[in-house]
Amino acid sequence: MAVERTFVAIKPDGVQRGLVGEILGRFERKGFKLVGLKQVTASRELAGEHYGVHRERPFFAGLVDFITSGPVVAMVWEGDGVIASARKLIGATKPLEAEPGTIRGDLAVNIGRNVIHGSDGADTAHFEINLWFSAEELNAWTPSDQSWRIES
Ligand code: RTP
Ligand code: MG
Repeated sequence: MAVERTFVAIKPDGVQRGLVGEILGRFERKGFKLVGLKQVTASRELAGEHYGVHRERPFFAGLVDFITSGPVVAMVWEGDGVIASARKLIGATKPLEAEPGTIRGDLAVNIGRNVIHGSDGADTAHFEINLWFSAEELNAWTPSDQSWRIES
């Protein structure tokens, strides 16, 4: 499995509900490496670009209103297969259909308040990382306990 990077954002509801530490901890405990982290209050332009694929959908305006309504915590996580694995940790889009044990399954009820975003593939991960982060904001580093998580 190749080392990948993915973009994850705790949405304004997750920040307002005090779930930042809980959510960050799940990715840390899994064993992924945090290589970018910042709090951002997104402009409508940034939110629109991020969710551009949904521009024609009826929920688009409300989604942009919501994502720009307060700060989000933007992150880049790195690791083997992290793109698909992050989506599994996050769970299904509709929180009532998300499995218990997933972030949305454990922490959310409503599709419009589903607390977290994760890139859905390699192309979107690349696009979203570059949209939200500059190259200088990303850190290449080696955790001192890496050999206890990754067989080399
Ligand atoms: P996300 O992009 O936020 O990680 O969510 P996702 O991939 O699981 O789902 P996606 O289809 O990309 O939808 C993006 C976000 O739009 C909102 N949504 N509302 N009212 C609706 O029918 C509806 N459908 C989607 C959700 O907040 C969803 O996370
Ligand atoms: Mg999506």
